[in-house]
Amino acid sequence: MAPSSYYYRCCIPFTLFLLLLIQQCASADMVEDTCERCSQSDPKVNYTLCISSLSQDPQSRQADLHGLAMVSAKLVRSGAVSMEARFAELSKEEAPLTPRKSCLEACVWLYLNSLYDLDTSIAAIDERRYPDAKTSMSATIDAPTTCEDAFKEQGFEPPLRAENNNLFQQAVISLAIVSLL
Ligand SMILES: *[C@@H]1O[C@H](CO)[C@@H](O)[C@H](O)[C@H]1NC(C)=O
Repeated sequence: MAPSSYYYRCCIPFTLFLLLLIQQCASADMVEDTCERCSQSDPKVNYTLCISSLSQDPQSRQADLHGLAMVSAKLVRSGAVSMEARFAELSKEEAPLTPRKSCLEACVWLYLNSLYDLDTSIAAIDERRYPDAKTSMSATIDAPTTCEDAFKEQGFEPPLRAENNNLFQQAVISLAIVSLL
């Protein structure tokens, strides 16, 4: 067997396998490194949630910091879409002109505004205008808390607390990642 043919049959697949392995190791570290840096820069960052949410998107495997910022911003966006829909649904079920209905409507409005800011932030990340991305992401961070406070001020138990809190934590993570760029 000619040495070159031996090389093609064995070493190229093996080299590709090694490269793949190295790349996967490197990107697992990238998610961990990024979450580590985020939780160091902002103590509000939930490291466990950071790792689990970034790892659930297959795109994170090949992502650099820019890519991870995009992954996390899109996660926050999809969370805001679903919160807006759920508050709109609750609001529809509520009798008109009640204080609870106005709280629910306030949350719908807050999340619609958030979506606008998130779209602006995602576009800015895409165009690598990171300071703009950070400004828009910061604007979304208070929505879940402001939504809850609307209920508390009226003496109501806020609905969807766990989901609201999860979204807040996702937004904190996203802001921390964008701030590293
Ligand atoms: C952090 O996130 C994990 C996973 O979502 C959750 O179980 C835990 O309660 C969170 N920690 C805090 C302090 O919110």
